[in-house]
Amino acid sequence: MRNTLQKARAFENKYLPRVEGTDILPRFHMTAGVGWINDPNGFSLYKGEYHLFFQYYPYDVKWGPMHWGHVKTKDFVHWDRLPCALAPDMPYDKDGCFSGGAIELPDGRHLLMYTGVRNVRRSNGLAVGYQTQCIAIGDGVDYQKYEGNPVLDEKDLPEGGSPIDFRDPKIWFEDGKYWAVAGNRPADGSGSILLFESEDAIHWKYSSNVANCHNQFGKMWECPDLFELDGKTVLMTSPQDMNSMGLEFHPGNSTLCIIGTFDKKIRHLLRDNIQAIDYGTDFYATQSLLTPDGRRIMTAWMQSWESSGSKVKKLPFFGQMILPRELHVKDGRLIQNPVREIEDFRAYKISYQNVMISQETNLQGVSGRFLDMTVRVRPGNRNNMYRYFKINVAVDGERATLIRHKPENSTLRVDRSRSGFPHDIVNTRDFPVTAGDELKLRIIMDRYSLEIFVNDGEQAASFVIYTPITADSISFSCDGTAVIDVEKYELIV
Ligand code: FRU
Repeated sequence: MRNTLQKARAFENKYLPRVEGTDILPRFHMTAGVGWINDPNGFSLYKGEYHLFFQYYPYDVKWGPMHWGHVKTKDFVHWDRLPCALAPDMPYDKDGCFSGGAIELPDGRHLLMYTGVRNVRRSNGLAVGYQTQCIAIGDGVDYQKYEGNPVLDEKDLPEGGSPIDFRDPKIWFEDGKYWAVAGNRPADGSGSILLFESEDAIHWKYSSNVANCHNQFGKMWECPDLFELDGKTVLMTSPQDMNSMGLEFHPGNSTLCIIGTFDKKIRHLLRDNIQAIDYGTDFYATQSLLTPDGRRIMTAWMQSWESSGSKVKKLPFFGQMILPRELHVKDGRLIQNPVREIEDFRAYKISYQNVMISQETNLQGVSGRFLDMTVRVRPGNRNNMYRYFKINVAVDGERATLIRHKPENSTLRVDRSRSGFPHDIVNTRDFPVTAGDELKLRIIMDRYSLEIFVNDGEQAASFVIYTPITADSISFSCDGTAVIDVEKYELIV
């Protein structure tokens, strides 16, 4: 069975050199180079470098038996490839090494905690995947699965918990102990987040129920992460089967952030606020780490499951991660901004102040597809608010990706229906923004993506685009009049 990993590594050695250094890869967003990726896993500081693993099927651009791919970075911008770390090669994980976390042990080894999936055929002929939590320990390149796996299984679940939906452990160390949160499906059929504890990160037991869905916010809660931030406790999770709720949550696979207080006696999260994490079309399965300088940095899969069948055929890889974000809590809400490291790669600054916009306008030098651009928008006439303010990016004769502010109902719309997709997928999102005296939009673009940060991180929204890279014009227009400042940098990575 060990051959499964060797086969994946041999495949990478053969096919990755054909992709590395070519201009089909994003410049600074992490992708696999070959095959399919979904959730980030094991995002952790190990021996002074940040390691990132990911759900990975090397052989095709669609989901298959899950491996763990592996990269590392010093700056969240350059990603060095490492060989495939885990393959589904044991009886307890033969149908997939699903998502999980990682931590550096005191003896200098790196521990991965993941979900092992084993399909079992039921009497009705249907196969179900039994999910258990497993560990593997290694040196930052090679990992050995623990002989005592699984370390958590059905018998560790509280009553009513489902062994079929029991996954995605995220591990951390606090108050002299190891802790892990995992998603589970309790008797009410929706989701819950369970907490487990361990003295040595190897022997685990159930600790408490941290939060429940109660069929209110989707069903199964996947990929949980729990951490302290700015005096609050934050739980992030990705619910399946969400119903839409106004402009906050969209249907299907969505993301959720609960901000509150952790009651240490009952080890349960008391909620103050619940909100979406990202308001774009492509964002799922968050995972965070703490840097030595105290920053909480989050990454996520920049993709949605719903549109994951829509591919540009010639690409040998599918799926990418967001540009990692620095998180804060302010006034009970989550604040997200791109990692500050990206600013080291800014070049060729172009700036404009107080430009009056009404007709469609191009500003000299404001164009490009690898960029970090901030636009501040104010009404041209305070007594007569504009109806719409629009920025079109990735524009050529046929294509454009639209960002549109509508003050009347305080929304931002992004429309990528002319952004190079070969299928009719979800292309438009509207989401609430606040614009007091001005609206501030920071736009980060890479070869296949657009990420927008509103008002210094009050909202973030991620979109995959496949517009040909030659479509690099940017235009501004307004129904009414607006006054804008623009600061644009090219990102040279
Ligand atoms: C979330 C998820 C996880 C699971 C993994 C399988 O996207 O469904 O719950 O561990 O993907 O690839």
